[in-house]
Amino acid sequence: MKPLTITICTGTTCYVMGSGYLLSLQEQIESACSRPVEIVGSSCLGLCKDGQYGRAPFVQIGSTVIAEATAEKIIETLKQQTARKPMEQI
Ligand code: FES
Repeated sequence: MKPLTITICTGTTCYVMGSGYLLSLQEQIESACSRPVEIVGSSCLGLCKDGQYGRAPFVQIGSTVIAEATAEKIIETLKQQTARKPMEQI
């Protein structure tokens, strides 16, 4: 099964706000998800520029943006998306 990609912004703003810590939580996030996940770091996603998306750190799962991301928010989003539609569509 193709892993679900979780993109964690590691741009300066997000990193200062804690995204580096999120990168270390792959095992915790994987164990909470019913399918394989791939956690990748990314340079600035451009979400921190004007406050439209909320506050850093930002994480993207498919087209879903998580602002002020925490491991708990990531896991909750994964569970909501899994309940809404098959993970292959995310
Ligand atoms: S530094 Fe993360 S969105 Fe810009």
